[in-house]
Formats: sequence, C-alpha cells, structure tokens
Amino acid sequence: MILGKIFIGSDRIQSRVKELAYEISSVYTGNVSANGKPLVIGVLTGAFVFAADLVRELTIECDVDFMAVDSYGSAMESSGELKFRLFPKSDLSGRDIIVAEDILDSGHTLNGICKYLKECGANSVKVAVLLDKRERRRTPFDADFVGFVIPDEFVVGYGLDYDEHYRTLPDIHCLET
Ligand code: IMP
Ligand code: MG
Repeated sequence: MILGKIFIGSDRIQSRVKELAYEISSVYTGNVSANGKPLVIGVLTGAFVFAADLVRELTIECDVDFMAVDSYGSAMESSGELKFRLFPKSDLSGRDIIVAEDILDSGHTLNGICKYLKECGANSVKVAVLLDKRERRRTPFDADFVGFVIPDEFVVGYGLDYDEHYRTLPDIHCLET
C-alpha cells in the first residue's frame, strides 16, 4: 500500500467542517431545554481531528467526551463484531448527544454506538460524519450531518489510518496498491 494523491485537500475539509458546524449549531440553537448543553462524543481514534476541528467551529456551547470502539476484521473492513474499548465518562442520561465520527462505511460501528447511547438513556442522539461511503453500507444507517459522500475508496489522513499509519496528514489521501 502506498499513499496516493490528495483526495480532499485540507482547505476543502476546513470549509466543509465550518459549514457542518453551522448546520449543527442552528439545529441545536434554542432547542436544548432542560437537558443543558449538547454533548459531542468523538469516536477514537479516527475522529480525534474531526471532533477537535468541529467543536471549535460550533457557535453553541457544548461539552466534549470521547469513546473508543474496535470493530473486528481486517485493516480495511469491519466484520460487524464490536468491542467497546473506552466508554464516555459523562453521565449520558437525558443528554442531547452529537456523535462525531470520521467515516461511515458498513454502518456497523455507528449502529452499535447509537444503540449503546440510547440504552444509556440519552434524550437524543444525532450523528455527524466527515465522510460517508454510502455504497458500502451493510446495515441501514443514515447520519444526520455528512461532510462528503465519497465512492468506495480507502482513504487516510485527517485522523484516518491504515494500520495506524497516516493519521497526522492534514489532507485526505487515497491509498494505492
Ligand atoms: P463501519 O463500522 O464499517 O461503518 O466502519 C467504520 C470504521 O471503519 C471507521 O471508524 C474507520 O475506523 C474504519 N474505516 C472505514 N473506511 C475507512 C477508510 O476508508 N479509511 C480508514 N478507515 C476506514
Ligand atoms: Mg479506524
């Protein structure tokens, strides 16, 4: 596997993240009553960059937490079997939660995460993903806020990895064989 061309440059990413943050802020403005500030939960490790950029562009106040989930399978494909590695430390009961995830692929990970958050008593759960590979879906799942719909290409950078490589690149690249 070698690093391919830039697929989405950092300038485009930054301006799209800004738009998403604006969209999210308008949905929650005046809409969060007794439950207090929305809670953004970043899904580690891939979404650490996206979550950090997104929360800094929100025009509403929010709390921030993280969780980590491994989905078994190869480095490029999830098997559907999830293992929760880190749970949010916040009390989730009654909260309005915004999950920030790097990429929506088969849908297994976000399905499992949303199910878990609802079981914890969240008042509402919405999902923001930077990338959506719609044609790869194995479990029906729609995110509420989507940065870019992309074709079936394996991509790295901006937090996304291939076998833990390339997470720190500012642009999103394709991987080539
Ligand atoms: P899903 O459970 O198949 O939707 O997979 C979501 C997870 O798979 C993401 O959190 C990523 O960690 C990983 N993933 C899926 N596609 C890619 C990709 O193109 N590059 C890097 N990681 C990916
Ligand atoms: Mg990953």
